[in-house]
Amino acid sequence: MREPRRLARLHYSSVLAGLHSLLEGSEAAALGKHFEIDAERFAELEHALVRDTAFTRAVESVYSDVRECDIRLLGSTPAQDHETGLRMLYYLTRLLEPASVVETGVFDGFSSAFILKALRDNGHGHLYSIDLPARSPVGASTNQMFFDCLPTGRDPGWLVPQSLRDRWTLHVGTSRGLLEGVLEECGEIDLFFHDSLHTREMMLWEYQTAWPQISDGGLLVSDDVFWSRAFWAFAANSGLQRTIHSGLGVVRKPETVSPRSALAGRQAA
Ligand SMILES: C[S@@+](CC[C@H](N)C(=O)[O-])C[C@H]1O[C@@H](n2cnc3c(N)ncnc32)[C@H](O)[C@@H]1O
Repeated sequence: MREPRRLARLHYSSVLAGLHSLLEGSEAAALGKHFEIDAERFAELEHALVRDTAFTRAVESVYSDVRECDIRLLGSTPAQDHETGLRMLYYLTRLLEPASVVETGVFDGFSSAFILKALRDNGHGHLYSIDLPARSPVGASTNQMFFDCLPTGRDPGWLVPQSLRDRWTLHVGTSRGLLEGVLEECGEIDLFFHDSLHTREMMLWEYQTAWPQISDGGLLVSDDVFWSRAFWAFAANSGLQRTIHSGLGVVRKPETVSPRSALAGRQAA
């Protein structure tokens, strides 16, 4: 019953993402395009994620109770994970060590949970999320998903474990209505994650609105980059290196060297 429904909902963007994944190298290699990371550090991060059985069990058990459907959150390889991109999101958040993260699009709360776990493992940082609750299917957003609306009586992020919620602020409403105010409230952010409405217009608007508020060395990460050409257009316009791995598009702002530290570096040399 479940598989035919999955097939019927297969969006062309999933087919493109699947084809693209055949060309993608390892996660470590993709992370290495933005961060200095060796095999030992990557293994450390991977263990911190996959060996945290309290986290995976907490998410799996609430999902099974509420959706009445069992999942294996993290498979033995990333290709077997319940959702692609969640591991990458965790690794990026660990490596960046952000103080402030803004996310658009929460729904059940998988991405929020992985970002919040990374912040907890880093020992600092706060996540500000914006979500228009999908009480019914939302076109260009949840309508191609296996479950296309929130479970009855549940709010966005319902599967985020209680133990991770102290670093989280959820704003309910549209991204158009709330994003500028949330960014203003944060001042500067280190990581922006888009996963709300995947129209070209909205994707570009969110990227362009968040970009000036992202700190030097900070990241813009977008889910579902194959829904439109928005991410390519934005990345080309920024002139910066972009990577696409596990369905996530990533652009990193250059780190500027402050005059003081450049001087210290020259004096030390
Ligand atoms: C693809 S789901 C997010 C999935 C989530 N990031 C995860 O990993 O579980 C998209 C979410 O964005 C919400 N959404 C759709 N349009 C929106 C808008 N204009 N502003 C804010 N949220 C929106 C949907 O209702 C839904 O909750």
